[in-house]
Amino acid sequence: MNRNGEPGLILALSKGRIFEDTLPLLEAAGITVLENPETSRKLILPTNDPGVRVLIVRASDVPTYVQHGAADFGVAGRDVLLEHGGEGLYQPIDLRIACCRMSVAVNAGFDYETAVRQGARLRVATKFVNTAREHFASKGVHVDLIKLYGSMELAPLVGLSDAIVDVVSTGGTLRANNLVEVEKIMDISSRLVVNQAALKLKRERLQPILDAFQQASQQQG
Ligand code: ATP
Ligand code: PRP
Ligand code: MG
Repeated sequence: MNRNGEPGLILALSKGRIFEDTLPLLEAAGITVLENPETSRKLILPTNDPGVRVLIVRASDVPTYVQHGAADFGVAGRDVLLEHGGEGLYQPIDLRIACCRMSVAVNAGFDYETAVRQGARLRVATKFVNTAREHFASKGVHVDLIKLYGSMELAPLVGLSDAIVDVVSTGGTLRANNLVEVEKIMDISSRLVVNQAALKLKRERLQPILDAFQQASQQQG
């Protein structure tokens, strides 16, 4: 039983790339999700296995559902996990999906290196305030962090910030907005996260799924 009295397993996923990239891993474990979250309004989706259901939550809420045991396991980006802190979560597998990098970007005309060398105080807009704070502190750069919830690329264009910290994949969004990547902070991919109590109490049910995910993710990488 988990928090809501469910005897089966509950998996928390976010719509979009994490859901889509997790589907083949679920298939490898013999699990098929029976409804499409892009067309269904349901937030709890059934699978072909009556003992496994999928919760559809915001990407940044996945660790919270798993931490509190409302979901037994979930899939979340390293970026999201670093912001959450990882408390109460066991993180056994790098699934090597939703790969990107966390970077600093600025307006094409902005001389970031010189600003940093001269000890300028930088205004940095980001959704990832903890990661950004740690990064700039480790470089000894003074920053004023501006918390945003999306569309970070807009901030330097309208003078809200000097720089952004955001995830970059193809670089297409930066290019489309005349921004340049000036520093990579870290590589990002998504991890499987498991509630620590569920891992002990539901190990028998969870382990075959974790093994299948592990194997399938190694094959894709
Ligand atoms: P929300 O839409 O709720 O604000 P989000 O934008 O973080 O959340 P997604 O865009 O689905 O949700 O991103 C989920 C995860 O995928 C991120 O946490 C990150 O690890 C990774 N990711 C984000 N953008 C990209 C990208 N362009 N290419 C590859 N992976 C990405
Ligand atoms: C993400 C991220 C960047 C973009 C980077 O946005 O927030 O804006 O991808 O990818 P690129 O380097 O390939 O352009 P997403 O596609 O998730 O849209 P969102 O604003 O809805 O989160
Ligand atoms: Mg996104």
